[in-house]
Amino acid sequence: MKLWGGRFEKGTDKLVDDFNSSIRFDCRMYRQDILGSIAHSNMLGKCGIISMEESTLIQNTLKDILDDIEAGKIEFEVDAEDIHMNVEKILISRIGDTGKKLHTGRSRNDQVALDIRMYLRDEIKVISEMLLSLENTILNISEANTATILPGYTHLQRAQPITFAHHTMAYFEMFKRDFMRLGDCCSRMNILPLGSGALAGTTYPLDRYMVAEELGFNDITRNSLDGVSDRDFVIELASCLSILMMHVSRLSEEIILWSSHEFGFIELDDAYSTGSSIMPQKKNPDVAELARGKTGRVYGSLMTLLTVMKSLPLAYNKDMQEDKEAIFDAVDTVKMCLPVFSNMLATMKLRKANMYKAAQGGFTNATDIADYLVKKGIPFRSAHEIIGKMVLYCIEKNKAIDEMSLEEFRSFSDKIQEDVYTEISLEKCVSGRNLPGGPAAETVLMAIQKARDYINSF
Ligand code: ARG
Repeated sequence: MKLWGGRFEKGTDKLVDDFNSSIRFDCRMYRQDILGSIAHSNMLGKCGIISMEESTLIQNTLKDILDDIEAGKIEFEVDAEDIHMNVEKILISRIGDTGKKLHTGRSRNDQVALDIRMYLRDEIKVISEMLLSLENTILNISEANTATILPGYTHLQRAQPITFAHHTMAYFEMFKRDFMRLGDCCSRMNILPLGSGALAGTTYPLDRYMVAEELGFNDITRNSLDGVSDRDFVIELASCLSILMMHVSRLSEEIILWSSHEFGFIELDDAYSTGSSIMPQKKNPDVAELARGKTGRVYGSLMTLLTVMKSLPLAYNKDMQEDKEAIFDAVDTVKMCLPVFSNMLATMKLRKANMYKAAQGGFTNATDIADYLVKKGIPFRSAHEIIGKMVLYCIEKNKAIDEMSLEEFRSFSDKIQEDVYTEISLEKCVSGRNLPGGPAAETVLMAIQKARDYINSF
């Protein structure tokens, strides 16, 4: 018998039961569902809507049910549709008519809105912790590599020398923003919808603030229609997770490139690589590739959610039950990626000599030689032109700029003197860029210190 079966003359088709039922995926919200119900029944008792004895009995039985679920003693019923109905059914089977009073002044529509907010708020905490740990890994790598020179790239062409620390700290900034976005998302999510009823609130004198306080919400929703039909916070979380995964994917892509024979900048630890079933020599960056691949999956969830919600009339529609699998999958995917990704980074070895060689090879100091000429009084555009010719000459002679003799240098400009060699060294190119935000070791160290203060404040 369905809890809502009163107006029906026959049972639901078996196919419809299966189609309608969400218990196989919303059962993971059992804890939030029960805590929400405990707070609701507590408030019903305190407000005199049910008696205090009834309230206490309901609360205690709900606690028992929670323990039983956690002890694996309860099997949910597909026919009972969802986690809300399952818990209520068990409650009623244990305490009869008193259990039937729990749902007073409440609808599954505001109940599910409550549960999903509570569930995702908890998951945001877990993901944020994981992000902090990833950020910490990045800070450790950065701290050890403020003097590790490699080429910085634009268009994937060698551009100017930077340090590995500068490069990894760029990712720190991205992950820091991801962390802040999650916090921001959580603050908008952490609003109590209970009391919205099915759509139009309720005539019972509920104390919504009491429930909000007990459940740790910052505020209550201000419109009952919106309270049951808003899933912005789910979409917002999916978009935060998508942006986060976009960053994971960009770094993955670089790891994959750097670990190739062509770059040879890093070597992944054996524990974070895999072999080939046919090619004995292979050591593949599967972790980074999978992280890159799973990014698409998280984007998919975001698209699912946006599309499910598009054009839904107010207020609740059953379409919205589709929000759960999408956001759960996004959350699970991110939670699976972050720790393994972080460990992969922590255990990789840098091939610093190869990085340095690459920085020497690609005329990455060309800008600095132009700047050298500027300091000797030549206008920048003219200097740019002169150095362009110099690069052409070096390509033809197959040498780096600093491998030219002073004579060769002076054939391009007689302003060039012996000091050119020290002025255009890779080390000088890096150390000279010491504006805030630049790659000079002292600047990056300062950024690392600030970053440490930031993550230690949580
Ligand atoms: N399982 C439903 C969901 O996930 C709960 C709300 C059902 N409400 C209703 N009126 N059918 O959205």
